[in-house]
Amino acid sequence: HAAEAQRTDLMTITRHVLNEQGRHPESRGDFTILLSHIVLGCKFVASAVNKAGLAKLIGLAGDTNVQASNPISPRLPALLYSTGEEQKKLDVLSNEVFVKALVSSGRTCVLVSEENEEAIFVDAPLRGKYCVCFDPLDGSSNIDCGVSIGTIFGIYMIKDKDNVTLDDVLQPGTDMLAAGYCMYGSSCTLVLSTGNGVNGFTLDPSLGEFILTHPNIKIPNRGKIYSVNEGNAKNWDAPTAKFVEKCKFPQDGSPSKSLRYIGSMVADVHRTLLYGGIFLYPADQKSPNGKLRYADANSELQSVLYEVFPMSFLMEQAGGQAFTGKQRALELVPRKIHDRSPIFLGSYDDVEDIKALYASES
Ligand code: AHG
Ligand code: MN
Ligand code: MN
Ligand code: MN
Repeated sequence: HAAEAQRTDLMTITRHVLNEQGRHPESRGDFTILLSHIVLGCKFVASAVNKAGLAKLIGLAGDTNVQASNPISPRLPALLYSTGEEQKKLDVLSNEVFVKALVSSGRTCVLVSEENEEAIFVDAPLRGKYCVCFDPLDGSSNIDCGVSIGTIFGIYMIKDKDNVTLDDVLQPGTDMLAAGYCMYGSSCTLVLSTGNGVNGFTLDPSLGEFILTHPNIKIPNRGKIYSVNEGNAKNWDAPTAKFVEKCKFPQDGSPSKSLRYIGSMVADVHRTLLYGGIFLYPADQKSPNGKLRYADANSELQSVLYEVFPMSFLMEQAGGQAFTGKQRALELVPRKIHDRSPIFLGSYDDVEDIKALYASES
């Protein structure tokens, strides 16, 4: 029986990736090694997130690490505060874990992280052919109240191993080889695409393995949910305002949509992927004359390299769309590593609607 087979024939993420005929079959081994280091980072963060609340409860959340003087649980702080000195914020600690895991994989050459102002170039002996752009812990405003947060990553391949430059990561999203996210929620779920559809894996804590639980995810063509920070409505442009108005007061007899907004992109996108609907992080209207600020590192928009691109890649691979208000999101070409952009992504037909509103605007 299929159900029985599923329980004993475990499709781990490693086995899945090894099976998959990717766009570069000759480098499946290298990609598998790279991925296993990303997975290690995700497991570390999952474990740290689960213990973060407990660390607070027993008084470990001071300014400095009190590990040595804490008789209650000597194992806890070792996981949370690796230096033995200063207590690290979870996002900073997660970043260190991912950077070290990626460098030590021997398969990376350029790393771009939300937590590092500059790109990290891997030294020659450990240099490999992959570039990884990542947000080690996204949704940081949700950490302290125990709401879902996540890690987002996008993977490129370098053009010339002996001549690595920033241009290797300043590529359009269409050049991405693979992308994914890991959500630290009521369960820990890793969603991955290597350009061959989208698959979801859930961490089985007793095995320490991600097991395929959501094979070949396809987003519904239309959804009943819209997801946006409506507190920013005064800064929206006309197409966004019109779109959200139509979600609430549809004129065509269709039922109004429900609003769901967690404030963690990973969780909001994950729900959108599974249930359908649309996630919006619209443009800001900076000045009253309607001048939009795009690609501005100081704005609150989503990062192109480690938020917009990976999520857009996943959406397209699942049969949805991702749009910036001006163009297909994956066709953006970032000029700087921390460039930002508005984003509308989700169900195909829902994104068609916002595209039509922008088209009629111009
Ligand atoms: P980060 O925690 O990595 O800085 O990013 C948080 C982002 C993203 O997860 C989420 O979609 C967005 O912030 C929420 O922003 P608003 O609070 O402006 O809605
Ligand atoms: Mn941030
Ligand atoms: Mn982020
Ligand atoms: Mn972050």
